[in-house]
Amino acid sequence: MASRPIVRDDDSRTRISPRMFARLAEFVEGHAGIKLPASKQALVEGRLLRLLRSSSMDSIDAYCEHVLSARASAGQRRDLINALTTNKTDFFREPAHFEYLASRILPEIVHDGSGRMRCWSAAASTGMEAYTLAMVIADYARRAGPLDFEILATDIDTNVLKEARRGVYPLASLEPVPTQLRSRYVQRARDLRRLEGRIVPELRNRIAFGRLNLMEPRYPVGDPMDLILCRNVLIYFEKHVQAKVVARLCDNLKPGGHLMLGHSESITGLDLPLKSVANTVFRRL
Ligand SMILES: C[S@@+](CC[C@H](N)C(=O)[O-])C[C@H]1O[C@@H](n2cnc3c(N)ncnc32)[C@H](O)[C@@H]1O
Repeated sequence: MASRPIVRDDDSRTRISPRMFARLAEFVEGHAGIKLPASKQALVEGRLLRLLRSSSMDSIDAYCEHVLSARASAGQRRDLINALTTNKTDFFREPAHFEYLASRILPEIVHDGSGRMRCWSAAASTGMEAYTLAMVIADYARRAGPLDFEILATDIDTNVLKEARRGVYPLASLEPVPTQLRSRYVQRARDLRRLEGRIVPELRNRIAFGRLNLMEPRYPVGDPMDLILCRNVLIYFEKHVQAKVVARLCDNLKPGGHLMLGHSESITGLDLPLKSVANTVFRRL
C-alpha cells in the first residue's frame, strides 16, 4: 500500500505562514472576490487541513505552494475555492422577500404581464433559496395562474451544487417551510427512519443548476430575468467589486424586473439603474 506522509499536528505543518496566507488571500480575492482578512486565518487553516489530509503534501504551506503554482490542475484550484466558500443558507431565509414576491411581484406578472417568469438565484449554495422560490411561485400559480416559470441557480462552489441538484435535505432543515407547502412539495423517503425529504420532481425540473463565478466579466445566463436573488454573498466582496457585480446583474434584468439582496447588504452610494421598492428589494429602471 502506498504510504502517505503523516500529517503531524505540530504548528509548522498545520499553521499557514503569514507570507503564504497573504499569497492565498490574494489568489482567492482575485479569483472569487472573497476577502480573507487576517481574522479568518484559523478558519482557513481548519478548512485547508481537511484538503491537506486527502493530498500527498505534508504541510499547509506546501499544499498552498503547489495549488497556487502553475503545476496545479484546474480541479485542485477548484477544490481550494470550494473549501473557502461560506455556504450558510436556509429555506425561507429572510422571509419578507418571499412575502414581497407573492404579494407584489407575482400578481403583476400574472395579471399585467406575460404569465411567464425567469428567475435567477445567483449564489445558490445548496439550493434552498431556489427551491423556496420554486415553492412560492408554484403555489401561487396553482391558486392564481396561469404562470409558467423557470429558475436558474448558480454558485461558484461545485460541491454545494451537487447537493442542490439532488434536492435531498434533513427534515430539520425543512422546518421553516410552511406545512402546507411541505406536504405538497417535499416527499419523504419510503423508509421513514431516514429523516430527510426530497423536493418533488415537479419543482426540481423547473430549476437548472450550474457553476457561475460572479467575478466573470459577463454572465452567460440567456434571456433577461424577471427576478434575481443575489443574497448574502456581496458581504464577502470589496465595495468596488460589489458595484461591478450588481451592475452586471442589472445587465441581466428586464426593465421593471426585481433584484433582491441580503438584508445586511447595501448598494447605497452606487450609481446603478435601480430604484428601491422595499427593504433590500430593487426594481430595474
Ligand atoms: C452565505 S451563502 C448564501 C446562500 C443564499 N444566497 C442565501 O442567502 O441563503 C453564499 C454563497 O455564495 C457563493 N459564492 C461566493 N463567492 C462567489 C462567487 N464569486 N461567485 C458565485 N458564488 C459565490 C458561495 O459558494 C456560497 O454558496
